[in-house]
Amino acid sequence: MARIHPDVPTPKLEAMAGRFGVFDDAAREYVIERPDTPLPWLNYLGQDELFGLCTNTGGGYTFWRDARLRRLTRYRYNDVPLDSVGRYVYVNDGGTVWNPGWKPTKTPLDRYECRHGLGYTRILGAKDGIEAELCFFVPPGENVEIWRTTVRNSGAEAKDLSLFSYAEFCLYEALNDMTNYQRTYSIGEVEVERAGAAIFHTTEHRERREHVTLFGCTREVAGYDTSRDTFVGIDNGLHEAAVPLAGHAGCSIAHGWNPIGAHQVDLHLEPGAEETFAFVLAYVDEGGTPVGLELLDRYSEPASVDEAFARLGGFWDDLLSRFQVECPDRHVERMLDTWNQYQCLVTFNLSRSASLFETGIGRGMGFRDSNQDILGFVHLIPDQARQRILDLAATQLADGTCFHQYQPLTREGNTDIGGGFNDDPLWLVVSTCAYVKETGDTSILGEAVGYADAPDREADLLHHLERSLSYTQARRGPHGLPLIGHADWNDCLNLNCFSTEPNESFQTAGDVEGSVAESVMIAGLFLYAARELAGLYRHLGRTDDAERVERAREEMLEAVEAEAWDGDWYLRAFDAEGRPVGSHACDEGQIFVESQAWCVLGGAGADNGRARRALGSVSRRLATPDGIALVQPTYSRYRVELGEISSYPPGYKENGSVFCHTNPWITLAWCLLDDGANALDTYLAICPSAREERIETYRCEPYVYAQTIAGPDAATPGEAKNSWLTGTAAWAFVSGAQGLLGIVPDYDGLRIDPCIPGPWESFHVTRRFRGTVYEIEVRNPDGVGHGVSSLAVDGRTVEGNLLPLEADAGPVAVGVVLGSPRSAAPIRRVAGRRDPTRPATVGSDDVEGRPRSAGAAVGAVGEPPSVG
Ligand code: BGC
Ligand code: NOJ
Repeated sequence: MARIHPDVPTPKLEAMAGRFGVFDDAAREYVIERPDTPLPWLNYLGQDELFGLCTNTGGGYTFWRDARLRRLTRYRYNDVPLDSVGRYVYVNDGGTVWNPGWKPTKTPLDRYECRHGLGYTRILGAKDGIEAELCFFVPPGENVEIWRTTVRNSGAEAKDLSLFSYAEFCLYEALNDMTNYQRTYSIGEVEVERAGAAIFHTTEHRERREHVTLFGCTREVAGYDTSRDTFVGIDNGLHEAAVPLAGHAGCSIAHGWNPIGAHQVDLHLEPGAEETFAFVLAYVDEGGTPVGLELLDRYSEPASVDEAFARLGGFWDDLLSRFQVECPDRHVERMLDTWNQYQCLVTFNLSRSASLFETGIGRGMGFRDSNQDILGFVHLIPDQARQRILDLAATQLADGTCFHQYQPLTREGNTDIGGGFNDDPLWLVVSTCAYVKETGDTSILGEAVGYADAPDREADLLHHLERSLSYTQARRGPHGLPLIGHADWNDCLNLNCFSTEPNESFQTAGDVEGSVAESVMIAGLFLYAARELAGLYRHLGRTDDAERVERAREEMLEAVEAEAWDGDWYLRAFDAEGRPVGSHACDEGQIFVESQAWCVLGGAGADNGRARRALGSVSRRLATPDGIALVQPTYSRYRVELGEISSYPPGYKENGSVFCHTNPWITLAWCLLDDGANALDTYLAICPSAREERIETYRCEPYVYAQTIAGPDAATPGEAKNSWLTGTAAWAFVSGAQGLLGIVPDYDGLRIDPCIPGPWESFHVTRRFRGTVYEIEVRNPDGVGHGVSSLAVDGRTVEGNLLPLEADAGPVAVGVVLGSPRSAAPIRRVAGRRDPTRPATVGSDDVEGRPRSAGAAVGAVGEPPSVG
C-alpha cells in the first residue's frame, strides 16, 4: 500500500516508478494507490436511472436519467484544480482536518487507497490512527446513491471526532444552473427534517416539477448546513471550508444562492472501535419527503446497506458470467472479462453524454454511435438492445437518412444538427443483424416503427433496413461511390463544408445538395451491411431478396475495385471537385485508416491481394507503438475543402491521432486474413491495461479505452484523451471476443473461428448463448492459430465450425482443435473472404473499364414484402 509522506503535500509524479495503481483481477477492481493520478481517474455509479460520475478522490456529480435536465449535484467544468467538487467527507480530528479521498483539503494522509469496482468506488484514507472508508454505489433498481461510511480507531487512544459531509446541489437544469444567475441565485430552496439528518433540495418543486432530492444521514447528526456561503465561506475554497475547520455546523437554511447539503456527525471511538453508517443521496420525485424519510429509515440498518451492496455484486456477476475467458495474455483476459464489458455497459447507459470530457449538456444520442455501441452489449442486455434499436429506427426519416442525434428523454431527433451524415443509416443494419444473431429473435424485424417525419407511415424494422441500403445506393457520385453528405464516420472530414466563417459549425455548414463528394469508407461499410442484410434474408429463407441485395453489393464492389484503389491502398474519398483524398498523389493526407478497414471488412480486395496490400500499407505508413494513426501525413494547415479535420493541430483527434475506435477494425481485418500475430499486436497497442507501462505519457485511466491517443506528429505523442464514452469500447470487445477468440454469434448457433498468434497453446471461453452455457476449450497444438480442424460437443464430433443450438441445458463442453488449412474445412468467417489456398498477393491491381454510373439499376434495393 502506498504511503503519502506526511510532509510532501503534493507528491511529485516522478517519485513513483510510473505506477499509480494495480489491477486486482480477482476482485474486479482497479486499485489506485496514490491520489494524484495524472488526470482524475473516473468510475461510474448506477445502472438503471440514477447515475454518478466518481473520480478517485470522490469528485463528480449525480443525475437522474438526463445529465442536463435532472442534474442533482453540481460540477464545475475545467475547474482549477481540474476536479474540485464532489462527494466530500471531512474529518476534524482534534483540529486537524482531512479527507479520506485527499481532496479537497489535500492534507497529507498516512494511507490512501481507491478501489474502482463495477458500479462502485471505495476510498480509504487514514491519518493519525483514524481510518475512514467511503463506499459509493447505487443499488440496482433504486434511485439512491449510498455513501457507506466506516470510521475506525486503529490507534491506542480514544478519539472524539467530527465528520462533515458535503454535497452541492445543482438546480436541476445543468446549463441554466451555470449560466442564468439572475434567476438561479433567487430560486434555491431546501427543507430540513429530523434535526438536519434529512435535507431535501426542493428548488422549483412547487411550480411545474416533481423533482426533490434527499441528502440524508442514517445516523443521528450534531448539526447541518444548507447554505454554501455558511459552510464554505464566501472567500474560501472547498479545501478550507469554514465549517469543517471550525469543527461545528452552522445549521444554516439556504434562501436562494447556492443550496448544499452538509451534516455534522460526532463520533467517540475507543481504541479498536469502529462505526458504520451511511449518507444517502436520493432522487425522490413524486414521492417527495415521505418517500425520502422511508428510504432513510430503511438504510439506517447497516444490514440493508450491505444487502444492497451484495445485490450490486450479484448483478455484475450475472452479467459478466455470459462471457469469460482464460488465455495466455493477461491484458486480453482482464479487458474482455471485466473492464471492456463494463465500459460497454457504460456506453449503453451514457452514450456520449457525461464524462470528464463530455459535459452532459451537449450532444444527445448519436445515431451511428449508439448503433455501434450495441455490438458491445447485446450479449449482456439483449432486451434493452432491442428497445434501443427500435428507438434508433424511429429517428430515421422516410427517405432513409437519419437524425444524426436524438434526445434520450424525448426520443426525438435533434433538428439543429439534422441528417445527411451518410454513413448513419447503414449502422442500423449492422446493429440489427448483430441483435438477431445473438438472440435468434427475428420478431424485431416485424416491429412497426414509423419514420421520424412520417410517424404514421406503416413500416416495420426490416423496411428501415432496406431504406438504409437504398438511401446509400440512390446517392452515388461520378465514380459510382456513395455520396458523403456532411461527413461519414469521420465527423471531421467535411468535404462539402467550405467554411471560412469562424462562427459556424464545420459539421452543419455547407450545402450537400448537388454535391459529388464521395466516400470510400461508406462504400466499404455498404459492402459489409449489404452482406449482413443478405445473410439475414437467407436466414429468413428469402432467397430472392438475398440475391437482390447481393447483386447490389457486387455492383458496389466493382465500383470500389475500379475506382477506389490507389495502387497500394484504398483511397479515402473524392472531394467536391472530384479530386482524390487519401492518395499517394496528395501532398498531405495520403493514406487514411478508415477506408482500408472498411473495404477489407466489406470483402473488397479478397480475391486480388489488395486486402493484404492495404493492411501492409497500414502497417508501414500508419502503425506506431501507440496504435494506428488515422491519417498520414497529417494536415499542416487548414484546408477549406476538407473542413474540420485540418483544423486540428497535427497528431490530434481526427488529424492523425491514434483515433482508437478505428484500431479494432484493423484487428478484425487482420483476423480475416488469418494473421493472429498482427491481430494481437494491433489489439494490444491501444489496450489500456497494456498502456500502464507508459502511464505518465498516456495519462488516462488504464482500465478503460480512450477515444484518442496523440499520434506521431503531435507534440505529446502517446497522450490519451476522452476516456470512457467512445465507440472504441464496443469494437474492442468485438475484435477480442469475435476476432481473436473467434466466438462468433450466428443465426443458427455459435460459430467458432479463432485467429490467435501461433505461440498461444490454448484458451478457454465460457459463453452463455441463447440460454445455454458453453465451456469452450480451444487448443492450438501446431501453432497455426486458426482454422478449426476438429470440433467436439459433449464428446460428439461435429463437422465444420458451428456449434448447434442446444435446448436449455446444463453446461455444454466444447473441444476445439485449431490448425487445419481452411481448404480442408470449408469455414468462412464471412462471405467473400479470400480463398486461403491462393497466394495472398496474386491478382491484377488494375481493374479497368468499369462504367462510371450513379444509381444504376442493377440489383436495386427497395421495399421488401413485410416479415410475417
Ligand atoms: C470531434 C469529433 C466528434 C464531433 C462530435 C468534433 O469536434 O472532433 O470527434 O465526433 O465533434 O460532434
Ligand atoms: C466521435 C463521434 O461521436 C463519432 O460519431 C465519430 O464517428 C468520431 N468522433 C470520429 O469523428
